Amino acid sequence: MFGKLFNWGKKDKEAHAGAAASENANWSFLGADMHSHLIPGIDDGAKTIEDSLILVRSLVEMGYRTIITTPHTMIDYYPNTSQTIQSGLATLQTALKENNINVSIKAASEYYIDEHFIKLIDTEPLLTIYEKEVLVEFSMLYEPPMLMEVIYKMQTAGYRPIIAHPERYLFFHQEMRKLYEMKDRGCLMQLNMLSVSGYYGRNIKAIADKLISQNFYDYCGSDMHHEKHAANLKAMAGTKDYHTFANYPFQNSRLCF
Ligand SMILES: [Fe+2]
Repeated sequence: MFGKLFNWGKKDKEAHAGAAASENANWSFLGADMHSHLIPGIDDGAKTIEDSLILVRSLVEMGYRTIITTPHTMIDYYPNTSQTIQSGLATLQTALKENNINVSIKAASEYYIDEHFIKLIDTEPLLTIYEKEVLVEFSMLYEPPMLMEVIYKMQTAGYRPIIAHPERYLFFHQEMRKLYEMKDRGCLMQLNMLSVSGYYGRNIKAIADKLISQNFYDYCGSDMHHEKHAANLKAMAGTKDYHTFANYPFQNSRLCF
């Protein structure tokens, strides 16, 4: 319901984009951020609760009202479970309250597609971004074996995959048809906002720009890990890329709660 309330019209967004030119980027027209690493000490994002507070505060300053934070679940490096994530979230929520930082926050996960994840699909409920939508990622360097089969398995179990930052998988750059195939098969697509700013390099920006022009994406996310990400997001104020966001029909606002 609140998503609808905050669903800004094109004119509102453009007015806001203009107003932001001389200050920090204002992303309030998005409403919700749905990809970040803000829970302390459980992945490669915030290390301490102080880090977490700095990062959440910067998202609030940029106008976000809802945060769905997504620690990695990656068995070899960050062996998180629903329990480690929810208990980390509770710690963060307490600290936010104590520091008078007012924002709606919940946790899901960014699941890395590996053998462990394939088992998890059958053995316990996955943490979802929205309804049955689940954020997944995989290796940046090589295509995981059976990728399409894993997507099908998720769908058979009732989930809808959201592919995290499709523009960042280098092996797809020469083989874009595989990205389109995932979309055709019903996957949702999440753009990393900093891909558009050039933060991850020129090639990734070029792919992101191309996919935006094709209306390929459904959501965008900060994928915020540290203060450098926050600074780069803020620095997009008033740029051509900022206006691109203001004019694109991202679905983030429906995630507000
Ligand atoms: Fe991430």
